[in-house]
Amino acid sequence: MAKFPSVSRREFLKITCVGTASLAASNLLPGLPFVGRVLVQSDQVPDLEVRLRAVESEVPILSGNPTRVWTYQGEVIQGDAASLQVIPDSYLGPIFRVRQGQHVRIHFVNELAEESIVHWHGLILPEAMDAHPHYAIAPGETYVYDFHVINRAGTYWYHPHPHGATANQVYNGLAGLFIVTDDEETAAGLPSGDYDIPLVFQDRSFDAENQLVYITGGMMTQMMTEMMGFLGDNILVNGKTEFELDVETQAYRLRLLNGSNFRILKLGWEDSTPLTVIGTDGGLLEAPTEHPYITLSPGERVELWADFNGRTVGSQLLLKSLPFTGVEMGGTMMGGMEMPETTTLPHGEETTVLKVNVVQESTEALTLPERLSTIERYTLSDAANADAPRTFEIAMLNEVWSLNGRSFEMDAVADDEIVQASTLEVWEFINVVNERETTAMEGEHGGHDMENMNMANGEVKTQDQMAHPMHIHGVQFQILERTVDDAFREGWETVSAGYVDNGWKDTVLLMPGERVKLLMRFGSDPGLYVFHCHNLEHEDLGLMRNYRVQ
Ligand code: C2O
Ligand code: CU
Ligand code: CU
Repeated sequence: MAKFPSVSRREFLKITCVGTASLAASNLLPGLPFVGRVLVQSDQVPDLEVRLRAVESEVPILSGNPTRVWTYQGEVIQGDAASLQVIPDSYLGPIFRVRQGQHVRIHFVNELAEESIVHWHGLILPEAMDAHPHYAIAPGETYVYDFHVINRAGTYWYHPHPHGATANQVYNGLAGLFIVTDDEETAAGLPSGDYDIPLVFQDRSFDAENQLVYITGGMMTQMMTEMMGFLGDNILVNGKTEFELDVETQAYRLRLLNGSNFRILKLGWEDSTPLTVIGTDGGLLEAPTEHPYITLSPGERVELWADFNGRTVGSQLLLKSLPFTGVEMGGTMMGGMEMPETTTLPHGEETTVLKVNVVQESTEALTLPERLSTIERYTLSDAANADAPRTFEIAMLNEVWSLNGRSFEMDAVADDEIVQASTLEVWEFINVVNERETTAMEGEHGGHDMENMNMANGEVKTQDQMAHPMHIHGVQFQILERTVDDAFREGWETVSAGYVDNGWKDTVLLMPGERVKLLMRFGSDPGLYVFHCHNLEHEDLGLMRNYRVQ
């Protein structure tokens, strides 16, 4: 049975048919991609119609037993079959490849044993298409998405968004890329086809039977992992361990997504070749920029121009996650308490994430374009609240993550969470580091699972020194300014040269003690949207709030 958002099919048509002729032209201009409505006539035949099922399945990941996973399986019902690209033997869902302006209809069928809903991360959509968690559907139900793609060309992605279960569903395999192209991108003349490679990084742990291991251990260990975030032992690329990329001696476009629940990556070539960045979450930069390494937190994307011209056939180049510090909560514990070790690959430890094999000579010599795209620059003085930025403090209060002291409530919106449609605003996120004291033996979690903890006197002081990749639905934003508390500068400086802040973004990392100001224009569709930490364990534990566009 198909379940439409809101109450009836008539309502649904009303929501999706808000576009009118007068809005049409300006909304599809490349310079104004994020102020728009969905121009859907739902009775029209869409350019692409897809059935997307969330199912339990198994895939070969390690040698021996296949691994049980949850995965999206897609099927083109109408339109170009090349619009869905399956990654063979991967739990990742099919890659959508669409053009800006296309009308897409997706029938999401929930064949899992629990409720779910699909969110199109980075796409600008009306509330009912964006999949606020209150739209989650029960097992066996279908949810029909129907929208026009108004975003500019870029590497977007999709994943589940039911409240409280997102982390587990993504961990089990539910995620995929949604790649948009447009005329401006085509004109830039970037490597395409076999030279345009998506790379999705996700950390996973396996047991002796090759099955995925998520949060385990005694109650205390589980509680701490949920509060901090889960780290896997292996970094998978496109759903594979030991992933190797065979290249020719020419330029490639690499589209990187950090699809991990919690792990931040600091990506750099082993031989210290700088990375040439051409795009961020919301598509191409104006011009390429070079970084010694890239800091990529969960939810973020970055696109690289990687030129292997001049490398010797037969040589190998490693992409590493380089060491960084400042994010370990365990390291800040005082009073003789140590965090239980839950992974063989601690956060910030150096590891290889990708092996590139140069296998063939190429005669193709591509030149890196000097200009890639046009970005309409927002200025602070144009923001409606330029004199009084809306601030959101991220903090742990009474063992719960919160934004301005509040955790997620399904339909609640506070006064400072209401914005006006089509308005430019400045927001500031502040990653507050609180010190708190708990008497562990008497605390609400005391007594359980003490075999995993070294407890001294029972007096425990902790600092909630955690990084938070903050993501806002319904917008692409620009980063105006970052500042960091001096007490946290040392850790911050191990990642800050890898921030790519000069493009369109929908997710931004805040290290402990860091503040970030963002400029964003809200969409023209009134409704309820969420913003949250993309550390999925934090999101599930309530580090998410609604905002209302009115
Ligand atoms: Cu990618 Cu609300 O998330
Ligand atoms: Cu999103
Ligand atoms: Cu967080």
